[in-house]
Amino acid sequence: MCLKRIEFVLLIFALYMDIVPDAEGSIMDMVDFRYWRCVMKREWECPDHEINFFLFTPEHPHQHWIDPRHPDLLQDLGWKIGRKNVLIIHGFNGTHSKSPMTTLRDAFLHQDYNVFMVDWAPLSRFPCYLSALSNMKLVSQCTAQLYSVITEAGGLAKKTTCVGHSLGAHICGMISNHLTEKQYKIVGKFFWFFV
Ligand SMILES: *[C@@H]1O[C@H](CO)[C@@H](O)[C@H](O)[C@H]1NC(C)=O
Repeated sequence: MCLKRIEFVLLIFALYMDIVPDAEGSIMDMVDFRYWRCVMKREWECPDHEINFFLFTPEHPHQHWIDPRHPDLLQDLGWKIGRKNVLIIHGFNGTHSKSPMTTLRDAFLHQDYNVFMVDWAPLSRFPCYLSALSNMKLVSQCTAQLYSVITEAGGLAKKTTCVGHSLGAHICGMISNHLTEKQYKIVGKFFWFFV
């Protein structure tokens, strides 16, 4: 309860601090909008250098950066086709390399999963809440590309899950907008709140 109230206050503060850029038909619509510590993505191209994917496996619990343009490399990095896959997406002001995402990662590694961590830290920074909301679209688009890489490499949709923390949960929900075949199951809840 206490955490919830703190988050609510932070959210209001973030909304107050964020600047809504004026998006009226200028050339600025075509390029990423950067202000202070914030970025609002307007280039809809994947992969994007501010959205990164890292693979962890039980044998290689140290991260490998994944380039979705080279799906053939997945096996070389220790990805196993028979295993279940999980995509883990952090929330507002998060990063893949900090709690609670690392706790989730280790729990899935323990359950013998191929773990893909999605990092969109530069696009989700405090207090740029409105930018983060807007950036979710591109993050889901690029994560859908990663998802396609997994299925192209032979991973099964029904063995692939998405887990998100806060805004990350919304991104999990948005991935299927970019896929022809619906994801088999999407796990994403707001209650992954431990600090
Ligand atoms: C945002 O993240 C940074 C870096 O992890 C942290 O120091 C800061 O306290 C966070 N801010 C909020 C409001 O959660």
